[in-house]
Amino acid sequence: MGLPVWRTSAFAFADAAEHAGLASGHVANPTAEAFAAGLAALEGAGLDGDPVEGEAFGSGMAAVTAVFLAFARSGAHVVAPSSMYGGTRDLLTGTLGRFGVDTTFADLGDADAVRAAMRPATRLVWAETLGASGLEVPDLPLLAELAHEAGALLVADSTLATPVVCRPLEHGADLVVHAASTFIGGHGDATGGAVIGRPEPLEAVRRVRSETGSVLAPDEAFLLRRGLETLPVRVRRQCDTANLFAAAVAGHPGVRAVDYPGLPGHPGHELARRLFTAGPEGTRFGAVVTVTPHGGRDAGPALVDALRLPLVAASLGGTHTTVAHVASTTHPRLDEAAVRFSIGLEDVDDLVRDVTEALDTIGRALGSAAPPSPRPPAQTRLAAEPH
Ligand SMILES: Cc1ncc(COP(=O)(O)O)c(C=O)c1O
Repeated sequence: MGLPVWRTSAFAFADAAEHAGLASGHVANPTAEAFAAGLAALEGAGLDGDPVEGEAFGSGMAAVTAVFLAFARSGAHVVAPSSMYGGTRDLLTGTLGRFGVDTTFADLGDADAVRAAMRPATRLVWAETLGASGLEVPDLPLLAELAHEAGALLVADSTLATPVVCRPLEHGADLVVHAASTFIGGHGDATGGAVIGRPEPLEAVRRVRSETGSVLAPDEAFLLRRGLETLPVRVRRQCDTANLFAAAVAGHPGVRAVDYPGLPGHPGHELARRLFTAGPEGTRFGAVVTVTPHGGRDAGPALVDALRLPLVAASLGGTHTTVAHVASTTHPRLDEAAVRFSIGLEDVDDLVRDVTEALDTIGRALGSAAPPSPRPPAQTRLAAEPH
């Protein structure tokens, strides 16, 4: 019943004949393969038996890097979102730039801007199913059309969405990338990544993984594979809590803005309602919520410090809610006071109470005119059911 951990760096064979032709080594590990196959089954669940496979990597960035190495070359061009995960952006402008890969960062929400960015040398259009930096929701079917017209592939970094929220292969993406350390593992105790797709584009990624030795260790693979067992239950609950949390916090007088695709005013809300329907009971909008308090830049760190329940951490997707003041950490271009919440499995009323008290505290400390808010209504749970 339990998955064995093949904690080995190599395999012994019965004799020379059995060994012949098998360049076995650290590249193939059954525990890592079981993890990749499990994630591929989730991403490919809606494709009517169309073969979908996966490759496991030692980190999310190792998976991202392998995709670029597989499809870009000196002189190749990439179209990527103007707002995106900083690590991928740094890879494109840094190492890949040095090797002659040119990137245009475009607003993927603007079809004309994407069309204008495409060049004959464009090999990849890179999207994030749910924007890691600004929670944008890209129009994957449209991007797939534009990419394919130009002979390029559409790759979706689905780290913030997970296959519980959206399965990009069903919307035209050619490959899906995951930083599995976040929602997939779910407990903040294992680092890994994966690339999922149909056999043909995936083969090139597999070759790069083998050439670069970018493998997932067996113990990590065991933990990430176990994470898949509870992924749908965890992520649905995290999304539902995030939806309730966003709606409740948006009403606090000390809050200038709440950014969450589940809120009707969010620019990606309608697209999310169309694309984020992977779950059996309707649309989910992810578990990351950005809260911008009134009071200028200092209000961001002040809010982080006034919260009692969340952990202060750059990581996301775990069972424990985490917060980060984004301007002083991972996304320096974001609104200066914005605080990113990655909602965990705590009780929603506890989270809303904690943030309400924290906002009241910083409102008093910063001398904001906002009056203290009433206690969060007991019917929070009913007021914003997922839809
Ligand atoms: C959207 C996204 N892509 C890629 C990565 C990189 O993953 P890793 O930290 O495992 O290298 C992350 C990390 O959080 C991420 O959020």
